[in-house]
Amino acid sequence: MTADSIPIAPLLQDRVALVFGAGSSGPGWGNGKATAVTFARAGAIVVAIDINAAAAEETRALIAAEGGRAEAATCDVTNSAQIKALVDDVAARHGRIDVLHNNVGITVMGGILEESEESFKRVLDINLTSAFLTTKHCLPHMLARGKGAIVNVSSVAAIRYSYPYPSYQASKAGLNQLTMSTALQYAKQGIRANAIMPGMMDTPLIYQQIVGQYESADAMRAARAAKTPMGRQGTAWDIANAALFLASDAAGYISGVALPVDGGLTCLAI
Ligand SMILES: NC(=O)c1ccc[n+]([C@@H]2O[C@H](COP(=O)([O-])OP(=O)(O)OC[C@H]3O[C@@H](n4cnc5c(N)ncnc54)[C@H](O)[C@@H]3O)[C@@H](O)[C@H]2O)c1
Repeated sequence: MTADSIPIAPLLQDRVALVFGAGSSGPGWGNGKATAVTFARAGAIVVAIDINAAAAEETRALIAAEGGRAEAATCDVTNSAQIKALVDDVAARHGRIDVLHNNVGITVMGGILEESEESFKRVLDINLTSAFLTTKHCLPHMLARGKGAIVNVSSVAAIRYSYPYPSYQASKAGLNQLTMSTALQYAKQGIRANAIMPGMMDTPLIYQQIVGQYESADAMRAARAAKTPMGRQGTAWDIANAALFLASDAAGYISGVALPVDGGLTCLAI
């Protein structure tokens, strides 16, 4: 059995789940797209949100084609007004927001001397401030019902060095702490917040944003697999399955964790 075919009970039956970054940045399965599809397979009403309208629509259509429930929406996660309008509209139409999944993240390669100030601030805006904004606008709806699950897609890069990309590492470290801050402040009010730290995942993103570090795509795949104790990269479905668990009541006593989904990578001695 492969990770994309594990039978899933309707863990999110009738839950309204917002997935920011639900498209993928290239052909194939990205973490956000696989998570949106998995949430829908688990019974959720999924709002597939992306800055790229075509990417959001592709995910919606994939879900609809297998009989799931989804809407597509376009929104830039750096735009607070756009996020608030979208969140309030979904809450008004569906009566609630049960799950907030923050998947949007970009990598910009290059060390401190190479990266511009403008780029550093942009990465923090897209990877970190975005989650502050989506959380800020979803929380009032969750608090009103005394229940909500937030899942933030961080990275092993939050706690380990893999490439020279300080803006990415700083943004993901910040996202871990934002997750914990949210979890603790609202723990008594029914809100859970957790992060997922993917390791070396074979998703479209790496062919756009990481491949330049290697001689070829084959060399990248081989090197990333070799770094990982399991000897292989993970897939978007590994992230989606972890997200499903953390978003569901099955994880009802879990809050404030940053869960590595990394084939054992973070256990390695340096
Ligand atoms: N692939 C890996 O090896 C790996 C490892 C660690 C962490 N991650 C994390 O996984 C997440 C992304 O995974 P993915 O495979 O779904 O990536 P992806 O690039 O395929 O999908 C991300 C989606 O976010 C959208 N997006 C980008 N900027 C946006 C914005 N400003 N507003 C709204 N949407 C925007 C893109 O259009 C894209 O469709 C990121 O947070 C990344 O840091 C990936």
